[in-house]
Amino acid sequence: MSASIPVGIILAGGSGSRLYPMTAAFSKQLQPVYDKPMIYYPLSTLLMAGIREVLIISTPHDMPTFQRLLGNGSQWGISLSYAVQPEPKGIAQAFLVGEQFINGRPVCLILGDNLFYGKLDFLRAALTGPLSHATVFGYQVQDPERYGVVEMASDGSVISIEEKPQSPRSSMAIPGLYVYPPDVVDIARHLQPSDRGELEITDVHNVYLSQQRLNVIPIGRGIAWLDTGTPESLLEASTFIHAIEKRQGLKIACLEEVAWRMGFLTRDEFERAVAALPNGDYRRYAASLLTSRT
Ligand code: DAU
Repeated sequence: MSASIPVGIILAGGSGSRLYPMTAAFSKQLQPVYDKPMIYYPLSTLLMAGIREVLIISTPHDMPTFQRLLGNGSQWGISLSYAVQPEPKGIAQAFLVGEQFINGRPVCLILGDNLFYGKLDFLRAALTGPLSHATVFGYQVQDPERYGVVEMASDGSVISIEEKPQSPRSSMAIPGLYVYPPDVVDIARHLQPSDRGELEITDVHNVYLSQQRLNVIPIGRGIAWLDTGTPESLLEASTFIHAIEKRQGLKIACLEEVAWRMGFLTRDEFERAVAALPNGDYRRYAASLLTSRT
């Protein structure tokens, strides 16, 4: 696989405490968002951006379930590997857990509970641009205090980045989707844990900012970035996916379809992947693409 296209990491650990008791038996990123497990959505985002080599990081407890769900990725023409984060010690720990996988290559990290819907040109641009800088995205929200927040000057330069500020300096949140040069591993290695004992992703961004190596790309309102952090936002995400799928008769994040459209599977391979699916709505949809694909 090409060394120039970044590899992908999905961080799918954490305690899921805000969704308890749903998360008492299995993790947040395995919960359904309408008709698919949550992790299908961030995985489809990486695939649609052209990434074919992905590491999934989760807890020791949930790892076997992710492996049962997703396998080695060959059914979608991709490579999936797995690594355990023993304890949730911060998002930036993903680069230390994933160091061997990253192996000196640029990397795109997506949080397993972040859902994007819409044209992914903003991500493709970040992945194919000069990878000496880190790239994060900015998204206008009503409640920036719940997120990493970026303040930008009118010329597009970055003034500050703060994690969950009590008094946000802007309404521009930073979604859980980031692109880094290979040296992110060294940066993570030198971070000090925050007051809550975590390696903070915002501290990584502040290092890149201090080195004048941080790009922030605002992603306009044509993209939906959905939150799944609370029972209510999880329900809203399901309702959103349901509404679009019902209206269009097309599924969002059907991984077999994405793999075929991206050219990761030939038609024959796609046909075989569909034949391996159990009977049901998902298989009927995938099978219908063999005659109707536009
Ligand atoms: O969703 C975007 C936001 O994600 C960003 O705007 C913030 O800057 C970033 O810190 C993060 O905020 P959250 O409050 O959502 O972080 P949380 O600790 O809930 O972790 C996000 C996901 O990452 C969650 O699904 C669990 C997973 N996770 C988290 C930590 C800290 C892990 O797998 N391991 C960890 O150690």
